Amino acid sequence: MLMAVIRACFNAFMIMAMTKKILVCTNFRTNPNNPSCAARDSQLVLDALKEELTKKSIVIEIEESPCMGYCNAGPNLRLAPNGEFFHGVTVADLPKLIQAAKKFSLS
Ligand code: FES
Repeated sequence: MLMAVIRACFNAFMIMAMTKKILVCTNFRTNPNNPSCAARDSQLVLDALKEELTKKSIVIEIEESPCMGYCNAGPNLRLAPNGEFFHGVTVADLPKLIQAAKKFSLS
């Protein structure tokens, strides 16, 4: 019985880990000398992205992410798992990003 529960939990975890999604870094650093995606309006990009995906009825999960390690190039987004990175994203980049997300979600 215990093994069945452990196996079910593991399977659920693996499905969640493999779910295709868009990760949006919303990390904020309080020190103005250290750049961060949130300080460069990643929340604005995140909100606009959610709105556009809803308008276009594109179903792909969006998840806020901690720092991705490219702070100087933010705001940063990534298609996950193992997808393309997008750096310096602004609201003007959404059509390109949505196109890539659509293609990625179908691959
Ligand atoms: S703060 Fe976004 S990548 Fe580091």
